[in-house]
Amino acid sequence: MVSRKALVSYGGEICLLYKSVPQRSYRKMDSHSKKIMVILTGAGISAESGLSTFRDSDGLWENHRVEEVATPEAYLKDPQLVWRFYSMRRIQASRATPNAAHLALAEFSYKQAENFEVYLISQNVDCLHQRADHYNRLEPINLHGSLHQSRCTGCETIYFDDYAYFDLDGNYAPGPTNLCDPIQRASMDYLHNYKLEYRNFLPLSPCCKESMRPHIVWFGEVPLYMDKIIPLLQKANIFVTIGTSGVVYPAAGFLELAQRNGAHTICINREPIPQNNYIDDFIQGSAGEKVPLFLETLKKLS
Ligand code: OAD
Repeated sequence: MVSRKALVSYGGEICLLYKSVPQRSYRKMDSHSKKIMVILTGAGISAESGLSTFRDSDGLWENHRVEEVATPEAYLKDPQLVWRFYSMRRIQASRATPNAAHLALAEFSYKQAENFEVYLISQNVDCLHQRADHYNRLEPINLHGSLHQSRCTGCETIYFDDYAYFDLDGNYAPGPTNLCDPIQRASMDYLHNYKLEYRNFLPLSPCCKESMRPHIVWFGEVPLYMDKIIPLLQKANIFVTIGTSGVVYPAAGFLELAQRNGAHTICINREPIPQNNYIDDFIQGSAGEKVPLFLETLKKLS
């Protein structure tokens, strides 16, 4: 048997994908049945698109205090600061383009649809997976929300493509100037289709005339779609994490849950993560290089 270390030194080739480690029994995968592959991505997959991660040096949490911009208390205390933080991130994300890892995942799920049922869960709010998905196949489950959406604090209605506050040059933008380049739009449904009203420089929801907030899961809030995610982890044959540090729960617990339920688990990351015991194959390196390689190997094995 090849050890995990050896796999890494072979440049992350998945030599063992369908061979089981003796102590554990994997859910049976006969070569003719369609495999269920569940993927979890984090900020590392977007790093090569030029977007900052959270915890690397010069990451977002090094430059901002979490409690000032990413908690419900922060929003109550200073909603303008919180809006500005997320608007600036929305601008950066809109200017970025999907990289080789995003594109390879989208292509794999489309071209390998006969052999694999692919489900993508993302902690990222940048929408680069959606923009890479030219085949409209992946439908990422965004468990931490989306930079391109905002919601009414009264009734929770979600509005799409939020350009209500700052335009893409970072200017305060109520009025006709908040239109963006059509290529950068994530949906055809625009908040600026409504005649918005503002209070203290903050956009009010068209439905309740209550303040709007970014549709982002903040610290202390419950992640979205857990009712969909848990059954996927329970039935996965293969579970892959890409570019996540494994420190924010519940996502950090997905490797353990998937492996305990019989999935073969793979981690692609630039550096080791704490869940070492729950990783069958660790592929060290950059997502832009390793993800296409991994998918290519998987394709050949199927
Ligand atoms: P982190 O910043 O915590 O971790 C990013 C991981 O990606 C690190 O382990 C890096 O080593 C790795 N990495 C960096 N560049 C990479 C590359 N090019 N290829 C592969 N790996 C690379 O980001 P997340 O794990 O996504 O939540 O953070 C989880 C959550 O914490 C976020 O969704 C966010 C944050 O607070 C909320 O805001 C609710």
